[in-house]
Amino acid sequence: CEVRQYTFNISYFSGSPDGVKKDKILGINNQYPGPTLEANQGDILEITVINNIIDGQNTSIHWHGISQRNGSLFEDGTSQISQCPLPAGGNSQVYRFVVEEAGTFWYHSHHFSQYTEGLFGALIVHANKEVYTYDDELTITLSDWYHQTAHENEKWHISCTSRGVPPYPNSGLMNGMGRFRCNATTLNNEGRTYECDTKKQMRPVFHLDYDKTYRIRLVNAAAVAAFNFSIDGHPLQTIEVDGVDVKESPDVIADIVPIAAGQRYSFLFKCGGGVSENSAIINEDGIGEEIKKETYLIRAIVRKESLMLLPGKNINEHTLALMINVTGVIECHKDKESGRKMETSENFSCDQNVPELPEEASTVQWDNDLGRGPLVVPNHFFFFFPAPKSDDKKRVVLDDMNLHPWDGSQAPPTFDKEFVVEVHFEEDRWNVRRGSFNNSPFVLPQHKPLLMTLLDNEPIPDSVFPLEIDDGDVVQVVINNPFYGPHPFHLHGHHFWVVGSGMWGQGNYTDSDGALKWNLTTNGVKRDTVLVQEKSWVVIRFKADNPGVWLFHCHIDWHNLSGMSLVFIEAKEKVRENWKVSEEVKRVCDLHKYINATL
Ligand code: C2O
Repeated sequence: CEVRQYTFNISYFSGSPDGVKKDKILGINNQYPGPTLEANQGDILEITVINNIIDGQNTSIHWHGISQRNGSLFEDGTSQISQCPLPAGGNSQVYRFVVEEAGTFWYHSHHFSQYTEGLFGALIVHANKEVYTYDDELTITLSDWYHQTAHENEKWHISCTSRGVPPYPNSGLMNGMGRFRCNATTLNNEGRTYECDTKKQMRPVFHLDYDKTYRIRLVNAAAVAAFNFSIDGHPLQTIEVDGVDVKESPDVIADIVPIAAGQRYSFLFKCGGGVSENSAIINEDGIGEEIKKETYLIRAIVRKESLMLLPGKNINEHTLALMINVTGVIECHKDKESGRKMETSENFSCDQNVPELPEEASTVQWDNDLGRGPLVVPNHFFFFFPAPKSDDKKRVVLDDMNLHPWDGSQAPPTFDKEFVVEVHFEEDRWNVRRGSFNNSPFVLPQHKPLLMTLLDNEPIPDSVFPLEIDDGDVVQVVINNPFYGPHPFHLHGHHFWVVGSGMWGQGNYTDSDGALKWNLTTNGVKRDTVLVQEKSWVVIRFKADNPGVWLFHCHIDWHNLSGMSLVFIEAKEKVRENWKVSEEVKRVCDLHKYINATL
């Protein structure tokens, strides 16, 4: 076991991730996305975060998917829940925790919507003994990108004009690179002019050896967009979902993998492996000679139902989706000389010559796959979905309900405590439409982090929608989503079993008919972020074996911000008996007394 140290210097810098210059990108060590953290299972990660954001913004960093067991509950990095936010002005905070679980994780700011401005990165934990064999690996992050600042977006979203609809992203990025359609209608940026430089538009290129097997780790770090991920000509074998190794089976091999905000997957990939007839080698070098290199397109095509649009706006989801689609390239080198080593950043380069993705290719309709997308939309309201093209139907889409944990573990067959929550949008008294559970928009505690409130034996405010659970309970949560728009829900502190889920349009879960549609032993996918389709439901289970205060929220960052969150108060006596506020969090809270910082 080793201590792995990293320093994050957080500040704004300027750049053009999609060709449009943005003065305020929230970067780590002037890098966006932030550096990939790597550790072996059992190591201690020690990250020193220094807040140098110029305009006095606080910050905090959350380690998404890391359970923070055995007392590291103060390392969860959730502003006003597990810690006071870290004030600007060069103040620092050290996060220190053991990484017990292996897999693909990510980290991001958990303070307002800072991660939408760039404050995130991948976190990879290598298993002591990986269950699958591969020669090397690469990490792909997907995100959506905004030309407005996070603050402008927040202001717009938390106002009576947004009607609960998230701000529109301007483009999609793969590993921080993308292509804004410079000549496209500028959505809600009407009236602004952009410096849009196509020469700055780049695309990630991964150089792979033809003979090697790779693990591709995929992270969706978007604020709102869900994507259909694929690599031309190559079916993908899923081996991991959200940090849980997955059993080998024909059902986990698919051409297209849907991924919602907050989720991760790993795939086994071999150049030329299983190249199918719709294989699209986009170019081959050495015409007339021996082919030394094959090039394949990586596509992340936005799932249109993940975009919610304002009625009356002069844009439809089709146009918006086109803007967010993003591509990368895999180069398969047959010649050992031209194939590069994977260990260093040399395996990776930027391609400046980004051809337009033909409309054809970027607009394929997959809304209807898995029977979970809207078929007919009643009116002009939010959505408009053309029918799928016939040849797309041949492509297999991963059904995540087919992913079973590699170790054969199964969901608990019964539960001790059940909560039924319904996703709602509620008008508050200022006519702002807020995300909520059961009509009660979550409000972040203002004066003290919730964990401290708990340790100080003070009452937990109702405004955080607290759900109390006892030590050792098997907890079942029924999430009903009767309205428009899918929501990816993420639980801190745990991985949960998805024990049942409805098809699109089925409406709410009810015990009697729901029971017919699920199966505890075969429907067992275990993860930390689950997508609840619109007009549908999901049921999850987890065991209360990690005392603490854990957020559960929609990972559409704007919905989290407006109130679609709640907290589990887990085994509160145990928390009080066993843990106290960490010295580091105490110190960060104390900083607020001396600095004129606002929470
Ligand atoms: Cu990745 Cu509370 O979030």
